[in-house]
Amino acid sequence: MKKFINATIYGDSESQELLIENGQFKAIGNGLGDADEVIDLEGRLVLPPYVDPHLHLDYIFSGLGDGNANISGTLFEGIQRWSDNKKSLTEEMVRERAIKGIQKEMNKGVQFIRTHVDITDPDLTGMKALIKLREELKDVITLQIVAFPQEGFFRYKGAEQLMEHALEMGADVAGGIPHFEISYEQGVESLKRIVHLAIKYNVMIDIHCDENDDPNSRFLEVLNALVMENNYGKYTTASHTCSFGSVENSYANKMLGLFRESNINFISCPTENAHLQGRGDSYPKRRGLTRVKELLNNGNNVAFAQDSIADYWYPLGNGNMMNILDNGIHLAHYTHIDEIYKAFDLITYQGANIMRINDEYGMEAGKPANFIVLDAKDSYEAIRERAEVLVSIRNGEYLFKRKPQKNEVEIDFLKQ
Ligand code: FE2
Repeated sequence: MKKFINATIYGDSESQELLIENGQFKAIGNGLGDADEVIDLEGRLVLPPYVDPHLHLDYIFSGLGDGNANISGTLFEGIQRWSDNKKSLTEEMVRERAIKGIQKEMNKGVQFIRTHVDITDPDLTGMKALIKLREELKDVITLQIVAFPQEGFFRYKGAEQLMEHALEMGADVAGGIPHFEISYEQGVESLKRIVHLAIKYNVMIDIHCDENDDPNSRFLEVLNALVMENNYGKYTTASHTCSFGSVENSYANKMLGLFRESNINFISCPTENAHLQGRGDSYPKRRGLTRVKELLNNGNNVAFAQDSIADYWYPLGNGNMMNILDNGIHLAHYTHIDEIYKAFDLITYQGANIMRINDEYGMEAGKPANFIVLDAKDSYEAIRERAEVLVSIRNGEYLFKRKPQKNEVEIDFLKQ
């Protein structure tokens, strides 16, 4: 039995003890009795592990190397470059890249990842590699896999059959990209087929939806209507929805009412979309984000995600969800002090809601003892200082432990 003492649990002000037995939280509170090992957290902030609910592990680090840079910085050039280069992809290459990406994310305190995997490939190379890794690594990381038709559900010939094959292989989620189909009609039809397949295979839905600056892009409206009719909103996520940041307020208000009814979830990828969007603007330049704050105030579940690490779409990224959170709350104006205090929800509980892993996620007696410890006394200090993750615990065991860095030296600037 292990006991962590003086833990400031996110959302509570008093420090508590965490008693762990057989990989689970046995009890959380005070005066919990003896344990074989007692670890003093000295009042540091304890959170459930970070969740990254939108990543592309099959592309990760693909944008490195000669001639791979995306010159225009647009989504469309990214898709073209990936399409040109993916033909030489092997399972071993995907496996190596994915492991490197998972290592990066785990190092920063992530233990739950939803990865999109391109299925517009006759060999389903990425899908095969990721399905094996999901099983192989399940004790250290929870992977959820989206069957994602990167080159279009209709635009890529045979994608529908490939998606069905991927779902039969065990993909957890059906994906889509309606704004990349060749017409509005085909985009709508792709959403109908994807919703149908998701219901048929009893999987969740996560659509790359309106990832553009076009205020007339309307696939979010279509997706929302389809899942509302099928009472499937809570199993559905609209990722990106950048154009919803550009629509008129009167239209946005109408849609917010409908999102409240459907309970659809949203994922915003702040750094990725700040980079990709607004490329056609002169000034003022749009921020590229959906209406994060308004969706949250509307009662919809919203999470932030990394999306890309050094791939054809985005040259940066290192799996650090604190960086994503910091950028996201700035770009979304989610910076009132009360909002900052609860902003960790965007990279923890709300991502877990999207992945529907609530049974195994959160700091409660009876759940797996998964948590991280930050070098800060509370959530406000942690975000303001971009506090480092010092400890990551999975099923009661250390994934890693690092010493706090003394990141400020005393500068004797008054001494002559
Ligand atoms: Fe994506």
